[in-house]
Amino acid sequence: MDRRDFIKHSAALAAMTAVPALAKAETTQEIEDHSGKLIISAPMLQNYAATSIGIAFAVSDLANGYVEYSEKKDLKDARKVKCGGYRVTDINDKVMLVRLTGLKEATKYYYRIGADRIRYGGAYDMEITGSESDPQIYSFTTAGAKAKAHFCVINDTHAKFVPFAGLCTKLAELKPSCVIWNGDTASKNEVIDTLRETIIMPPGSDGFAAETPYLLCPGNHDSRGMANRHFEKVWMFRQPEERPSRDWDLGRNFAVRMGDVAMIGLDTAEDKLDTNPRFAGIFTSEPYREAQAVWLADALKQPEIASAPFLVAFCHIPLFDPRPDANPGDCYPADIDPRYKKDYAAWQRTCANLWTPLLAEAGCQLIITGHQHKYRYDAPEGERTWAQIVGGGPVDNPTIIEGCVRKGKLKITVHDNAAGTVIEEFSFNRR
Ligand SMILES: [Fe+2]
Ligand SMILES: [Fe+2]
Repeated sequence: MDRRDFIKHSAALAAMTAVPALAKAETTQEIEDHSGKLIISAPMLQNYAATSIGIAFAVSDLANGYVEYSEKKDLKDARKVKCGGYRVTDINDKVMLVRLTGLKEATKYYYRIGADRIRYGGAYDMEITGSESDPQIYSFTTAGAKAKAHFCVINDTHAKFVPFAGLCTKLAELKPSCVIWNGDTASKNEVIDTLRETIIMPPGSDGFAAETPYLLCPGNHDSRGMANRHFEKVWMFRQPEERPSRDWDLGRNFAVRMGDVAMIGLDTAEDKLDTNPRFAGIFTSEPYREAQAVWLADALKQPEIASAPFLVAFCHIPLFDPRPDANPGDCYPADIDPRYKKDYAAWQRTCANLWTPLLAEAGCQLIITGHQHKYRYDAPEGERTWAQIVGGGPVDNPTIIEGCVRKGKLKITVHDNAAGTVIEEFSFNRR
């Protein structure tokens, strides 16, 4: 098989944006279509933070995307930032990822997205064949101690686009400062097109994240399928300068201060062991979880995190389960044990052992999880000083877990978005 055939026949390689860009260059005469729109989605705000933000949008052709932004609504003094990092931009024909850095905390910015269509014929043969910008000017507000403390959590959406649209409608009504997407965005993605559809342009919800910044805690399903192995092609990592070199590969964790709340994002990874023969040894959840414990210990000491009155952690798989037959995810080697109903982790004892002592010592009041597709509240009990909320989903009982600070308390409201009701409300004191 020669290289051209290999690219043509390998759906797996479509997961890597660098490869479609190369494939595009090699097959440009056959498939390039200049009649259609270049920018084919609204922007999505990713990785809410105090001094940076990510902006992603979909394109239909080989493109070099950019964002123009300013504190002024008319964008007259706008700065322009191109996709990709240093040295070269990330031209590709799927998703433009632009990271804005050096922003002011708790500040409103206006922005516009645009892209140049690139004809790439070779290393000395390239040109801009057209430019397009979204006429709409959008806005976002950065995080920080002075930001409004108001978050919403969705989880286990599993690319069910009708209930997802319902969640987006409710979120537009609630208007949180940020949304935490707590994993299992889809069940699998073999090609980047379905991953892109799930994250950037969900049918019926275009523009859902154009002015509401999102944070991601990946779920077990978000590692499944060839495209999901390169999730960062659609949902960018945090910038390398936002984390020390030791943590460069931990681009999905976050520690964000938003008003009186410090938010910690952790990735519980797969719900099957690395040793499970079903997965052919191609997952490395164990060292990943250990590396996150080292990151977490430092993140909790960051001044803006340590000084926050409320500390809330988010991760996909629960870190506690009161049911004796719930598989804790540490049954070596194949997740099977007659004591447990399921042959995969219902909760994550390994992560709990690694992370919750650190969170408890820091005074974490609440851990918000998902994965079980059924809402549950676990009140603090005995030595477990933190509460846990397990969100529901995806079709019958999708939840929105809303948190805000009012009168010195962290108020949590759990919405059942199918029934349109409030399931429960909680109130947490300062740590
Ligand atoms: Fe799920
Ligand atoms: Fe899950």
